[in-house]
Amino acid sequence: MTQPKSLDDFSSQLIAWQKQYGRHDLPWQNTTDPYAIWVSEIMLQQTQVSAVIGYYQKFMVRFPAIASLASATQEEVLQYWSGLGYYSRARNLHHAAQTIMAEHHGQFPQDFETMQTLSGIGRSTAAAIASFAFNQIQTILDGNVKRVLARYFAITGWPSSPKVEKQLWTLAEGLLPKNDMIAYTQGLMDLGATLCTRSKPACTSCPLSNACEAYAQNRVHELPTPKPKKAIPVKQTTMLIVLHGDEVLLQKRPPLGVWGGLWSFPEVENPQNYADALSTLGITAHPEKALPMLSHTFTHFKLQITPLIMHASQQKPHAKEAGTVWIALSDAIAAAIPTPVRTIVNQILTK
Ligand code: ADE
Repeated sequence: MTQPKSLDDFSSQLIAWQKQYGRHDLPWQNTTDPYAIWVSEIMLQQTQVSAVIGYYQKFMVRFPAIASLASATQEEVLQYWSGLGYYSRARNLHHAAQTIMAEHHGQFPQDFETMQTLSGIGRSTAAAIASFAFNQIQTILDGNVKRVLARYFAITGWPSSPKVEKQLWTLAEGLLPKNDMIAYTQGLMDLGATLCTRSKPACTSCPLSNACEAYAQNRVHELPTPKPKKAIPVKQTTMLIVLHGDEVLLQKRPPLGVWGGLWSFPEVENPQNYADALSTLGITAHPEKALPMLSHTFTHFKLQITPLIMHASQQKPHAKEAGTVWIALSDAIAAAIPTPVRTIVNQILTK
C-alpha cells in the first residue's frame, strides 16, 4: 500500500476499504429513508448490531413510518423495545415522532441543527442520519470512532472526557471527505466494529495502519485511555412475585427513572416490609420461597434482585392503585417488561 501523504488519504483509504470489505447488507442500509435510518441509529446506540437486527425488523414492520410510530401508545413502543435496554431511547424516539408530526409536517427535518432539537438525537446521531439519508458532510463520533481516532492520532486521555472529546470532534471534522459520505461514515463504523476493536485490533489488515500514530509508536493496546474506574454502587431490592392461578401481578413503573413505563413486579428495599407494600395494593400474601438472586448492571449502579414467590388468596379487582395488572405468565413474556422480569417469568414457566 502506498504511504498516505496527507489527511485526504485517511478518507480515500477508508472509503476504498469500506467499498471492498465493509458491511453492505445490514437491514438499515441501502435506503435513504431518514425514518428507517433514525430508528436504526437509536437502536445501535450502546448496542451491538447482532442484538439490534431482530428488534429493528419487528419494529419497522409494526411502525413502518413516522406517523404510525407517533400514533402508537408508549406502552406498545416499549413492548417492541422490551429487552433492548436503555428505555429512554424508546420514549425519546416516540416523543420525537410526535414532535415531527406536530411541528415538521410529518417530515423528518433535513437541517442538521433542527435534527438535534428532537428528543434523543445528539450531534453524532444527527451526523449519521444527515450523511446516510441526506448525503450531508457531517462527522459522526460514537464510541467506536473515538477509539479509531484516539489511535490514529495517538491521543492520550479518556475519549469521553470533555477536553479529549472536543479535540476528537475537531480532528474528525478535519478528516471529512468532499463526497462519498455514505461509504465514509459506514467505513468509520465498520472499521471500529470489525478491525480496530478494543482488545483484538487487526492492524495488519487495516487500511490506515501505515499512517496510524498508535501503530507506529506500538501503543495500540494502551489507546484509547480507559475510563477512570469509579466503583459503582450496588443496590439491593426484593421483587414480590405475587401469583394467583396462572396469573402474576405486575405494576407499571413511574415514567422517569430506570425502566420508566415498563411493567415490573412490586418491589421493597427491605423484604420485611412486603406486607405493607402489598396492602397498599389491596393484596394479602406471604413469601413462600426465594428464587436465586439476579444481578443487573445499569450505567450508574448494579442492582441485586431477590425474587420472593408468593400466592395471593384472592385477586382484588385491579387493586386500589392505578397501574397494576394481573396477567397470565405466558402473556407477560410479550409485554413491555425489563430483562430480569422476563428471566424470572421464564424460570416460573419452565419449572
Ligand atoms: N452503529 C451505529 N450505526 C451503525 C450503522 N449504521 N451500521 C452499523 N453499525 C452502526
